[in-house]
Amino acid sequence: MDKLNVFKTISKIFLGFVVFIVLLFGGLILFVESPELFIKEKIAAADWEPNKVEEDLEYKILDREVEYGYRLLAESPKYIGPNAEHPEMRYAGNNLACVNCHLKNGTQAGSGSWVGILERFPQYSGRDGKESTIEDRINGCMERSMNGKKLPKDSREMKAMIAYMDYVSEGIPEERKAEFKGYPPIELPDFPADPQVGKDLYSKECAVCHGEDGQGQRLAEAEKGYLYPPLWGDDTFNHGAGMHRVITAAEFIKSNMPFEEATWDNPKLTDEEAYHIAAYINSFDRPQKANTEKDFPDKRLKPVSTPYGPWTDDFSPEQHKYGPFPPIIAYYKEKYDISKSK
Ligand code: HEC
Ligand code: HEC
Repeated sequence: MDKLNVFKTISKIFLGFVVFIVLLFGGLILFVESPELFIKEKIAAADWEPNKVEEDLEYKILDREVEYGYRLLAESPKYIGPNAEHPEMRYAGNNLACVNCHLKNGTQAGSGSWVGILERFPQYSGRDGKESTIEDRINGCMERSMNGKKLPKDSREMKAMIAYMDYVSEGIPEERKAEFKGYPPIELPDFPADPQVGKDLYSKECAVCHGEDGQGQRLAEAEKGYLYPPLWGDDTFNHGAGMHRVITAAEFIKSNMPFEEATWDNPKLTDEEAYHIAAYINSFDRPQKANTEKDFPDKRLKPVSTPYGPWTDDFSPEQHKYGPFPPIIAYYKEKYDISKSK
């Protein structure tokens, strides 16, 4: 190889290097200036929001069936509860609205939202001991959270509720689905929840709205239900409801209360505080659901914090209600290889 060839090779390498640097920086500048060219999909997914029913109502672009579904879910006592005009329409037994627990009209992540829900059904239900449809799941809340009776599956009301759930789910990107499902879990303490500790925390964090007596406050238009819903007593969820389990209630409270202050990604209370408060609100009398001994035909599938028997283990009713739950979870894992989280 003579000198000339060496020189040519070196200049080629150098030129290649210069081109590489130019492309690299050009790309970087383009990325900084217009990132959407590179990560269009991701940004669109992060910006996605569920349809906003109140805006669509204002602009008069809401489908009639979806609107009816929204009224049923948001003003339940007036349409399908104790204040319904026709006695045969009084399916719910208390004056709660579905959206008192499924917050922001069922669109709030971390509060058991209805966003993306239709894709999750049918699914196996341990409580029913069979495949359960979305209609069955809605009726689960009708009979327990709403302390009432089932809505007929082919009724106009059932169809309208489902149409609304479909509407809030419109266009949900794959990567946002998990966020809108259920409640984020809490770390379960290895000591029992203490309603006395919960009482002090309740007075400090909750009583302003729900009242020291836990009875909340009715709306000015009382037929539509509550401004602040009651947490115990005669006019709230019954003893067979999910919210009556300490673990489920603690998860809900941690991610959602105090209202307008705490969210799933910015909670106010610690796991332990939510755990004690959940025990306190569930230490009072409330309506009793009939036939709960028939729940969970396979008793091994009962959530560990189900506060009513029968159970298929020797832990005390007290421990099933207030914990500690990790030993019960460990027992089912070891004996039946069943993994429980609540
Ligand atoms: C007292 C609170 C409360 C009220 C009121 C209530 N629910 Fe629920 N709902 C729950 C709880 C708790 C769950 C279970 C959440 C979990 O464990 O992730 C649930 C679950 C659901 C689910 C299944 C959610 C999922 O992601 O699998 C649907 C659907 C539902 N409720 C519909 C309704 C409807 C419709 C009404 C009114 C007729 C209603 N709920 C009223 C507390 C309530
Ligand atoms: C600023 C007022 C406010 C405070 C403070 C507050 N809540 Fe609520 N809470 C609400 C409202 C409003 C709803 C119903 C939301 C809706 O309908 O959109 C609600 C709903 C609930 C529900 C579900 C409905 C029901 O009847 O079971 C529970 C449980 C609950 N709150 C518990 C608590 C606990 C525990 C605390 C204290 C850690 C607390 N809240 C603090 C306003 C409040």
